[in-house]
Amino acid sequence: MKIVVLKSSPHFKGTSNCLTDEFIKGAKDSGKEVIEYDLAEEGVIHSCLACDYCRTNGQCIQNDKGNEILKSILEADAICLATPTYYFGISSQLKKMIDRFYSKNSAIAKKNLKAVFIISAGNDNLQLLEVIQKHFELIANYLNFKNCGLLLASNCGSVNLITNEYYQKAYELGKNI
Ligand SMILES: Cc1cc2nc3c(=O)[nH]c(=O)nc-3n(C[C@H](O)[C@H](O)[C@H](O)COP(=O)(O)O)c2cc1C
Repeated sequence: MKIVVLKSSPHFKGTSNCLTDEFIKGAKDSGKEVIEYDLAEEGVIHSCLACDYCRTNGQCIQNDKGNEILKSILEADAICLATPTYYFGISSQLKKMIDRFYSKNSAIAKKNLKAVFIISAGNDNLQLLEVIQKHFELIANYLNFKNCGLLLASNCGSVNLITNEYYQKAYELGKNI
């Protein structure tokens, strides 16, 4: 099984990336292949231009790493979306990439990808869980993802606050996907 992992925090060794590394460990320990991208790297991807060029030409007009990532996703069996919480939502880095899915919506939907969502948050907020769960669910339904789990790591404003329980959960998600 091939898994594309999309990290999206500007903190290279931050909370969402550390938990995602644990997910990757679980996946590799159980024999899966992992292809990892860091969307927070400078200039990796540009925003969707909503130009609809892709509607007539089948691919995005922009020539950047976004297209390479899309190609990888279309060759994969599973996807892991990882992000810090920013204002009760996902990071703009991840959102930019999800918007770029637009050029390959139907091809992605046909794949029935397995999907895992990892999100860290500074606070503990029940409303946040509701919003995040709903957002992930809607994206998953729209793109025919098989929802294989969501990890919301609350009260994790810095790496030293990540509990063993969260690390374990991330590892299990990788192992069981
Ligand atoms: C711009 C910004 C917005 C944030 N908004 C929220 C928020 O709405 N809720 C929350 O619980 N934490 C919020 N945080 C805190 C981060 O989610 C938290 O520090 C997280 O651990 C950062 O993840 P990272 O280390 O992977 O970058 C925000 C942080 C930043 C920088």
